[in-house]
Amino acid sequence: MSKKELRFNSKTIHGGQQPDKAYGAVMPPIYQTSTYAQSTPGGHKGFEYSRSANPTRTALENALASIENGVYGLAFASGLSAIDAVIKLLEPGDEVVSTNDLYGGSYRLFKQIFEKYGIKFHFIGMQNMDAIEAHINAKTKLIWVETPTNPMMNIIDIKATSALAKKHKLLLAVDNTFATPYLQRPLDLGADIVMHSATKYLGGHSDLVVGALVVKDKELADKLYFIQNASGAVCGPMDSFLTLRGIKTLHVRMQRHCENGEAIANYLNQNPKIEKVYWPGFESHPNHDIAKSQMSGFGGMISFVPKGSSYEEAIKIVEKLEVFTLAESLGGVESLAGHPASMTHASIPKEEREKSGVVDALIRLSVGIEDVDDLIADLEQAIG
Ligand SMILES: Cc1ncc(COP(=O)(O)O)c(C=O)c1O
Repeated sequence: MSKKELRFNSKTIHGGQQPDKAYGAVMPPIYQTSTYAQSTPGGHKGFEYSRSANPTRTALENALASIENGVYGLAFASGLSAIDAVIKLLEPGDEVVSTNDLYGGSYRLFKQIFEKYGIKFHFIGMQNMDAIEAHINAKTKLIWVETPTNPMMNIIDIKATSALAKKHKLLLAVDNTFATPYLQRPLDLGADIVMHSATKYLGGHSDLVVGALVVKDKELADKLYFIQNASGAVCGPMDSFLTLRGIKTLHVRMQRHCENGEAIANYLNQNPKIEKVYWPGFESHPNHDIAKSQMSGFGGMISFVPKGSSYEEAIKIVEKLEVFTLAESLGGVESLAGHPASMTHASIPKEEREKSGVVDALIRLSVGIEDVDDLIADLEQAIG
């Protein structure tokens, strides 16, 4: 069977991979080099300078393309530098329609870096296609989607958004960090670009910062490779190796993240001291049906608000947690808790973030793959 035809759980291990050409190493060696010997000017073995390409990064880029059912993968120094490369496809005067409930750093990049170069961003709720279409005009070039959204777990219909993007000849980019290709493959649903903070589930062990893009179209890939090389925010060989190693267990980790996530969402939902739980697996979730149709599970990310929406109560809970670590980030094997208003989403003005539900009492959990009974016991003692 050709590696192209492998199923997802085999692609995470073998997709785009070949034994190393030098000695047949099964795991890609860490080519810790900036440059490559040439026999005559231009006489090289495919690699000239590691900003342009490095064999360990190429192995990762091939794996990324494979697991997202794309053709071209690009690895960056961080998720934000991957987003930065996408926005650099645009010209001053162009407009972007973006979800209003997105990672605070993406919002900051759009508002505080790119707006001053004349790119205009519309931050809107994307649950309704008419709302998206109302913000599209002759200058619009890109729709930026995050689904599930961070931290409100809203679900955006990728297929319907893609139909809209095609109708208006726009690019559709999807930040697939929360779902990962284990649960959702945006390119199959019509997106043009998939983006990842590979720092999260793809790496999976909270030991690196890496970003990724995957596309199918050659012309688009060439433009992005040009930006990647010209701007230079590439992923180093060591981080490429660690991300590749993480991807090899993505499917088994995600399976457990989903199981533990479901158990904890249900535990919080029946707890009288909790006012509201945000998790797309609940039938009562406003876009549960879309989540069910475009995702194969609901993941390990959950947000909740304690009874009375009290900021003090939220802070007390995150401080008391012992197995969950209070920390930025998500997607590692260990469980993390975060307070979006003061941590991940502090760069979004209060009025702006509260409009999308990111209130001061909101707590976000990245449910890890520990024994779920230990995680529930920890929440129980912290909630009191
Ligand atoms: C959904 C999402 N997108 C993008 C990013 C940015 O990625 P990075 O921190 O790797 O630059 C993050 C980081 O938390 C994120 O959660």
